[in-house]
Amino acid sequence: MMRALQFLWVFMKKVTVLGLGSMGVTLAQLFIKKARKVTVWNRTRQKTLPLVDQGAAAAATAAEAVGDSPLVVMCVYDYAAVNDILAMPGFAQAMAGKTLVQLTTGSPADATESAQWAARHGVAYLEGAIQAAPSQMGEDNTPVLISGSEAAFKLHKQVLSDLAGNFVFLGSKMEAASTMDLATLSYVYGGFVGFMQGALIAEAEGLDISQFGKIVADISPSFGSFFAHEGKVIQSKDFTITESPLRISVEATQRIHAFAQARGLNTEFSALAAGLLKRAQQAGLENKELAALIQVLRK
Ligand SMILES: NC(=O)c1ccc[n+]([C@@H]2O[C@H](COP(=O)([O-])OP(=O)(O)OC[C@H]3O[C@@H](n4cnc5c(N)ncnc54)[C@H](OP(=O)(O)O)[C@@H]3O)[C@@H](O)[C@H]2O)c1
Repeated sequence: MMRALQFLWVFMKKVTVLGLGSMGVTLAQLFIKKARKVTVWNRTRQKTLPLVDQGAAAAATAAEAVGDSPLVVMCVYDYAAVNDILAMPGFAQAMAGKTLVQLTTGSPADATESAQWAARHGVAYLEGAIQAAPSQMGEDNTPVLISGSEAAFKLHKQVLSDLAGNFVFLGSKMEAASTMDLATLSYVYGGFVGFMQGALIAEAEGLDISQFGKIVADISPSFGSFFAHEGKVIQSKDFTITESPLRISVEATQRIHAFAQARGLNTEFSALAAGLLKRAQQAGLENKELAALIQVLRK
Protein backbone atom coordinates (compact mmCIF):
# COMPACT_ATOMS: atom_id res chain seq x y z
CA MET A 1 0.00 0.00 0.00
CA MET A 2 2.80 2.41 1.01
CA ARG A 3 4.71 1.55 -2.17
CA ALA A 4 1.64 2.20 -4.30
CA LEU A 5 1.10 5.59 -2.64
CA GLN A 6 4.79 6.42 -3.04
CA PHE A 7 4.58 5.52 -6.75
CA LEU A 8 1.49 7.70 -7.17
CA TRP A 9 3.19 10.62 -5.41
CA VAL A 10 6.27 10.40 -7.66
CA PHE A 11 4.00 9.89 -10.70
CA MET A 12 2.03 13.04 -9.94
CA LYS A 13 5.11 15.14 -9.41
CA LYS A 14 6.67 14.86 -12.85
CA VAL A 15 5.56 16.91 -15.80
CA THR A 16 7.18 18.10 -19.03
CA VAL A 17 6.38 21.37 -20.80
CA LEU A 18 7.28 21.72 -24.49
CA GLY A 19 7.24 25.26 -25.88
CA LEU A 20 8.20 28.31 -23.84
CA GLY A 21 6.45 31.23 -25.48
CA SER A 22 4.50 33.59 -23.26
CA MET A 23 1.89 30.91 -22.52
CA GLY A 24 4.30 27.96 -22.18
CA VAL A 25 6.50 29.85 -19.67
CA THR A 26 3.42 30.62 -17.58
CA LEU A 27 2.35 26.96 -17.62
CA ALA A 28 5.82 25.81 -16.54
CA GLN A 29 5.92 28.41 -13.76
CA LEU A 30 2.52 27.34 -12.43
CA PHE A 31 3.73 23.73 -12.21
CA ILE A 32 6.95 24.84 -10.49
CA LYS A 33 4.91 26.87 -7.99
CA LYS A 34 3.03 23.69 -7.08
CA ALA A 35 6.36 21.89 -6.47
CA ARG A 36 6.06 19.59 -9.49
CA LYS A 37 9.27 18.17 -10.92
CA VAL A 38 9.22 20.11 -14.18
CA THR A 39 11.29 19.43 -17.29
CA VAL A 40 11.18 22.02 -20.06
CA TRP A 41 12.22 22.18 -23.68
CA ASN A 42 12.08 25.01 -26.19
CA ARG A 43 13.36 25.30 -29.77
CA THR A 44 15.35 28.35 -28.71
CA ARG A 45 17.26 26.95 -25.75
CA GLN A 46 17.98 30.33 -24.15
CA LYS A 47 14.35 30.65 -23.06
CA THR A 48 14.78 27.68 -20.69
CA LEU A 49 17.40 29.49 -18.58
CA PRO A 50 15.11 31.61 -16.34
CA LEU A 51 13.03 28.51 -15.64
CA VAL A 52 16.11 26.52 -14.67
CA ASP A 53 16.84 29.29 -12.16
CA GLN A 54 13.33 28.74 -10.80
CA GLY A 55 13.88 25.00 -10.37
CA ALA A 56 13.06 23.34 -13.71
CA ALA A 57 15.33 20.94 -15.57
CA ALA A 58 16.09 21.85 -19.20
CA ALA A 59 16.41 19.14 -21.84
CA ALA A 60 18.46 19.38 -25.03
CA THR A 61 15.82 17.74 -27.21
CA ALA A 62 12.05 17.32 -27.12
CA ALA A 63 12.47 13.52 -26.91
CA GLU A 64 14.82 13.87 -23.95
CA ALA A 65 12.42 16.29 -22.24
CA VAL A 66 9.66 13.69 -22.26
CA GLY A 67 11.99 11.55 -20.11
CA ASP A 68 10.10 9.77 -17.38
CA SER A 69 7.30 12.34 -17.03
CA PRO A 70 3.97 10.55 -17.40
CA LEU A 71 2.40 13.86 -18.47
CA VAL A 72 3.61 16.07 -21.32
CA VAL A 73 2.04 19.46 -22.00
CA MET A 74 2.74 21.06 -25.38
CA CYS A 75 2.01 24.72 -26.09
CA VAL A 76 3.64 26.12 -29.21
CA TYR A 77 2.68 28.72 -31.78
CA ASP A 78 0.60 26.62 -34.18
CA TYR A 79 0.18 23.13 -35.64
CA ALA A 80 3.03 23.60 -38.08
CA ALA A 81 5.22 23.84 -34.96
CA VAL A 82 3.40 20.88 -33.36
CA ASN A 83 4.02 18.75 -36.45
CA ASP A 84 7.71 19.72 -36.48
CA ILE A 85 8.00 18.49 -32.88
CA LEU A 86 6.00 15.29 -33.43
CA ALA A 87 8.36 14.44 -36.32
CA MET A 88 11.57 15.02 -34.31
CA PRO A 89 13.89 12.00 -34.02
CA GLY A 90 12.93 9.73 -31.13
CA PHE A 91 9.96 11.86 -30.05
CA ALA A 92 7.20 9.37 -30.91
CA GLN A 93 9.11 6.51 -29.23
CA ALA A 94 9.70 8.63 -26.10
CA MET A 95 5.99 9.49 -25.90
CA ALA A 96 4.69 5.88 -26.10
CA GLY A 97 2.60 5.00 -23.03
CA LYS A 98 2.44 8.63 -21.80
CA THR A 99 -0.20 11.33 -21.98
CA LEU A 100 0.15 14.30 -24.31
CA VAL A 101 -1.97 17.35 -23.49
CA GLN A 102 -1.99 19.58 -26.54
CA LEU A 103 -2.65 23.19 -25.55
CA THR A 104 -1.62 24.72 -28.89
CA THR A 105 -4.58 26.45 -30.52
CA GLY A 106 -5.68 24.79 -33.76
CA SER A 107 -8.59 23.82 -35.98
CA PRO A 108 -10.76 20.71 -35.52
CA ALA A 109 -8.89 19.15 -38.47
CA ASP A 110 -5.56 19.81 -36.69
CA ALA A 111 -6.91 18.10 -33.57
CA THR A 112 -8.03 15.03 -35.53
CA GLU A 113 -4.65 14.73 -37.24
CA SER A 114 -2.72 14.97 -33.97
CA ALA A 115 -5.05 12.49 -32.28
CA GLN A 116 -4.40 10.06 -35.14
CA TRP A 117 -0.65 10.50 -34.62
CA ALA A 118 -1.15 9.74 -30.91
CA ALA A 119 -3.22 6.64 -31.61
CA ARG A 120 -0.56 5.34 -34.03
CA HIS A 121 2.15 5.73 -31.39
CA GLY A 122 0.34 4.47 -28.28
CA VAL A 123 0.03 7.92 -26.72
CA ALA A 124 -2.99 8.92 -24.60
CA TYR A 125 -4.17 12.21 -26.03
CA LEU A 126 -6.00 15.27 -24.77
CA GLU A 127 -6.70 18.31 -26.87
CA GLY A 128 -7.16 21.59 -25.04
CA ALA A 129 -8.12 25.14 -25.89
CA ILE A 130 -6.98 27.80 -23.45
CA GLN A 131 -9.57 30.55 -23.14
CA ALA A 132 -7.51 33.02 -21.13
CA ALA A 133 -4.41 35.19 -21.35
CA PRO A 134 -1.18 34.12 -19.57
CA SER A 135 -1.82 36.54 -16.66
CA GLN A 136 -5.24 34.92 -16.10
CA MET A 137 -3.90 31.36 -15.84
CA GLY A 138 -3.83 29.47 -12.55
CA GLU A 139 -7.03 31.01 -11.16
CA ASP A 140 -9.96 29.00 -9.81
CA ASN A 141 -12.19 30.20 -12.66
CA THR A 142 -9.62 30.08 -15.54
CA PRO A 143 -11.41 28.25 -18.39
CA VAL A 144 -9.70 25.59 -20.51
CA LEU A 145 -11.79 23.43 -22.85
CA ILE A 146 -10.53 19.88 -23.16
CA SER A 147 -11.52 16.69 -24.99
CA GLY A 148 -10.08 13.27 -25.77
CA SER A 149 -9.17 10.35 -23.53
CA GLU A 150 -11.43 10.48 -20.47
CA ALA A 151 -9.21 8.01 -18.61
CA ALA A 152 -6.17 10.25 -19.17
CA PHE A 153 -8.14 13.31 -18.11
CA LYS A 154 -9.22 11.65 -14.86
CA LEU A 155 -5.67 10.45 -14.20
CA HIS A 156 -4.06 13.86 -14.67
CA LYS A 157 -6.89 16.19 -13.67
CA GLN A 158 -5.32 17.10 -10.35
CA VAL A 159 -1.96 18.04 -11.89
CA LEU A 160 -3.65 19.93 -14.72
CA SER A 161 -5.66 21.93 -12.19
CA ASP A 162 -2.37 23.72 -11.34
CA LEU A 163 -2.89 25.52 -14.66
CA ALA A 164 -6.57 26.37 -14.47
CA GLY A 165 -9.38 25.75 -12.02
CA ASN A 166 -12.04 25.38 -14.69
CA PHE A 167 -11.10 22.55 -17.09
CA VAL A 168 -14.30 21.84 -19.03
CA PHE A 169 -14.19 18.23 -20.29
CA LEU A 170 -16.22 18.01 -23.52
CA GLY A 171 -16.08 14.26 -24.06
CA SER A 172 -14.01 11.79 -26.01
CA LYS A 173 -14.56 13.31 -29.47
CA MET A 174 -11.01 14.57 -30.11
CA GLU A 175 -11.98 17.72 -31.99
CA ALA A 176 -14.66 18.81 -29.46
CA ALA A 177 -12.42 21.31 -27.64
CA SER A 178 -11.15 23.02 -30.81
CA THR A 179 -14.68 23.09 -32.28
CA MET A 180 -16.08 24.65 -29.08
CA ASP A 181 -13.15 27.09 -29.16
CA LEU A 182 -14.26 28.16 -32.67
CA ALA A 183 -17.85 28.52 -31.44
CA THR A 184 -16.80 30.75 -28.54
CA LEU A 185 -14.46 32.78 -30.77
CA SER A 186 -17.38 33.29 -33.14
CA TYR A 187 -19.33 34.81 -30.23
CA VAL A 188 -16.35 36.97 -29.23
CA TYR A 189 -15.77 38.39 -32.71
CA GLY A 190 -19.49 38.84 -33.36
CA GLY A 191 -19.69 40.79 -30.12
CA PHE A 192 -16.57 42.75 -31.03
CA VAL A 193 -17.92 43.88 -34.40
CA GLY A 194 -21.11 44.95 -32.61
CA PHE A 195 -18.95 46.78 -30.08
CA MET A 196 -17.23 48.65 -32.93
CA GLN A 197 -20.62 49.69 -34.31
CA GLY A 198 -21.56 50.86 -30.82
CA ALA A 199 -18.34 52.89 -30.62
CA LEU A 200 -19.26 54.61 -33.93
CA ILE A 201 -22.72 55.43 -32.58
CA ALA A 202 -21.34 56.86 -29.31
CA GLU A 203 -18.67 58.79 -31.23
CA ALA A 204 -21.27 60.29 -33.57
CA GLU A 205 -22.92 61.90 -30.52
CA GLY A 206 -19.60 62.98 -28.98
CA LEU A 207 -19.99 60.52 -26.09
CA ASP A 208 -17.05 59.13 -24.11
CA ILE A 209 -16.05 55.81 -25.76
CA SER A 210 -14.19 54.61 -22.66
CA GLN A 211 -17.41 55.06 -20.70
CA PHE A 212 -19.20 53.05 -23.39
CA GLY A 213 -16.61 50.26 -22.86
CA LYS A 214 -17.21 50.36 -19.12
CA ILE A 215 -21.00 50.14 -19.58
CA VAL A 216 -20.51 47.12 -21.88
CA ALA A 217 -18.30 45.48 -19.22
CA ASP A 218 -20.98 46.12 -16.59
CA ILE A 219 -23.81 44.57 -18.64
CA SER A 220 -21.72 41.61 -19.90
CA PRO A 221 -22.35 39.22 -16.96
CA SER A 222 -26.13 39.51 -17.30
CA PHE A 223 -25.93 39.14 -21.08
CA GLY A 224 -23.72 36.08 -20.54
CA SER A 225 -26.53 34.56 -18.46
CA PHE A 226 -29.02 35.50 -21.17
CA PHE A 227 -26.89 33.75 -23.86
CA ALA A 228 -26.67 30.68 -21.61
CA HIS A 229 -30.48 30.68 -21.49
CA GLU A 230 -30.77 31.06 -25.29
CA GLY A 231 -28.36 28.12 -25.71
CA LYS A 232 -30.67 25.97 -23.58
CA VAL A 233 -33.65 27.10 -25.68
CA ILE A 234 -31.93 26.02 -28.92
CA GLN A 235 -30.93 22.68 -27.39
CA SER A 236 -34.52 22.09 -26.17
CA LYS A 237 -36.03 22.96 -29.62
CA ASP A 238 -38.85 24.74 -27.76
CA PHE A 239 -38.96 28.38 -28.85
CA THR A 240 -41.92 29.45 -26.73
CA ILE A 241 -41.18 32.92 -25.33
CA THR A 242 -39.45 32.62 -21.96
CA GLU A 243 -37.20 35.69 -21.80
CA SER A 244 -37.10 37.86 -24.92
CA PRO A 245 -39.60 37.89 -27.81
CA LEU A 246 -37.86 38.06 -31.18
CA ARG A 247 -40.04 41.04 -32.24
CA ILE A 248 -38.23 43.31 -29.72
CA SER A 249 -34.92 42.62 -31.43
CA VAL A 250 -36.43 43.28 -34.88
CA GLU A 251 -37.26 46.79 -33.71
CA ALA A 252 -33.94 47.31 -31.87
CA THR A 253 -31.82 46.32 -34.88
CA GLN A 254 -33.94 48.49 -37.21
CA ARG A 255 -33.28 51.46 -34.87
CA ILE A 256 -29.52 50.83 -34.90
CA HIS A 257 -29.50 50.57 -38.70
CA ALA A 258 -31.66 53.67 -39.17
CA PHE A 259 -29.38 55.71 -36.88
CA ALA A 260 -26.24 54.53 -38.71
CA GLN A 261 -27.81 55.40 -42.07
CA ALA A 262 -29.02 58.82 -40.90
CA ARG A 263 -25.58 59.74 -39.51
CA GLY A 264 -23.66 58.38 -42.50
CA LEU A 265 -21.91 55.75 -40.36
CA ASN A 266 -20.69 52.38 -41.58
CA THR A 267 -23.76 50.16 -41.97
CA GLU A 268 -22.21 46.75 -42.78
CA PHE A 269 -22.92 45.31 -39.33
CA SER A 270 -26.23 47.09 -38.73
CA ALA A 271 -27.53 45.98 -42.16
CA LEU A 272 -26.56 42.38 -41.40
CA ALA A 273 -28.19 42.34 -37.94
CA ALA A 274 -31.33 44.20 -39.02
CA GLY A 275 -31.61 42.08 -42.20
CA LEU A 276 -31.39 38.76 -40.34
CA LEU A 277 -33.98 39.77 -37.74
CA LYS A 278 -36.29 41.08 -40.48
CA ARG A 279 -36.04 37.75 -42.29
CA ALA A 280 -36.95 35.97 -39.05
CA GLN A 281 -40.01 38.21 -38.72
CA GLN A 282 -41.00 37.49 -42.32
CA ALA A 283 -40.63 33.78 -41.57
CA GLY A 284 -43.30 34.17 -38.85
CA LEU A 285 -40.94 33.92 -35.87
CA GLU A 286 -41.65 37.32 -34.30
CA ASN A 287 -43.69 35.85 -31.45
CA LYS A 288 -41.07 33.24 -30.59
CA GLU A 289 -38.10 33.43 -28.24
CA LEU A 290 -35.16 35.39 -29.76
CA ALA A 291 -33.13 32.18 -30.18
CA ALA A 292 -35.58 31.15 -32.93
CA LEU A 293 -33.32 33.25 -35.23
CA ILE A 294 -31.28 30.08 -35.61
CA GLN A 295 -34.07 28.67 -37.77
CA VAL A 296 -33.33 31.37 -40.36
CA LEU A 297 -29.56 30.86 -40.12
CA ARG A 298 -29.86 27.09 -40.61
CA LYS A 299 -31.39 27.53 -44.05
N1 LIG B 1 -0.62 34.12 -25.28
C1 LIG B 1 -1.93 34.09 -25.18
O1 LIG B 1 -2.58 35.05 -24.76
C2 LIG B 1 -2.70 32.83 -25.52
C3 LIG B 1 -4.02 32.67 -25.05
C4 LIG B 1 -4.71 31.49 -25.38
C5 LIG B 1 -4.11 30.53 -26.17
N2 LIG B 1 -2.81 30.73 -26.61
C6 LIG B 1 -2.22 29.71 -27.47
O2 LIG B 1 -1.05 29.18 -26.90
C7 LIG B 1 -0.12 28.84 -27.93
C8 LIG B 1 1.23 29.48 -27.63
O3 LIG B 1 1.03 30.88 -27.57
P1 LIG B 1 2.19 31.86 -27.04
O4 LIG B 1 1.50 33.15 -26.74
O5 LIG B 1 2.98 31.18 -25.99
O6 LIG B 1 3.04 32.03 -28.39
P2 LIG B 1 4.49 32.67 -28.54
O7 LIG B 1 4.84 33.52 -27.37
O8 LIG B 1 4.54 33.28 -29.90
O9 LIG B 1 5.47 31.40 -28.50
C9 LIG B 1 5.49 30.48 -29.56
C10 LIG B 1 6.22 29.24 -29.13
O10 LIG B 1 6.16 28.31 -30.20
C11 LIG B 1 7.50 27.87 -30.48
N3 LIG B 1 7.63 27.51 -31.90
C12 LIG B 1 7.22 28.23 -32.97
N4 LIG B 1 7.50 27.56 -34.10
C13 LIG B 1 8.10 26.40 -33.74
C14 LIG B 1 8.61 25.28 -34.44
N5 LIG B 1 8.54 25.21 -35.78
N6 LIG B 1 9.15 24.25 -33.74
C15 LIG B 1 9.19 24.31 -32.38
N7 LIG B 1 8.74 25.33 -31.64
C16 LIG B 1 8.19 26.37 -32.31
C17 LIG B 1 8.36 29.06 -30.11
O11 LIG B 1 9.69 28.64 -29.98
P3 LIG B 1 10.90 29.72 -30.10
O12 LIG B 1 11.02 30.35 -28.74
O13 LIG B 1 12.06 28.90 -30.48
O14 LIG B 1 10.51 30.71 -31.16
C18 LIG B 1 7.71 29.47 -28.80
O15 LIG B 1 8.08 28.62 -27.76
C19 LIG B 1 -0.72 29.33 -29.26
O16 LIG B 1 -1.31 28.27 -29.97
C20 LIG B 1 -1.79 30.33 -28.80
O17 LIG B 1 -2.86 30.43 -29.71
C21 LIG B 1 -2.10 31.84 -26.28
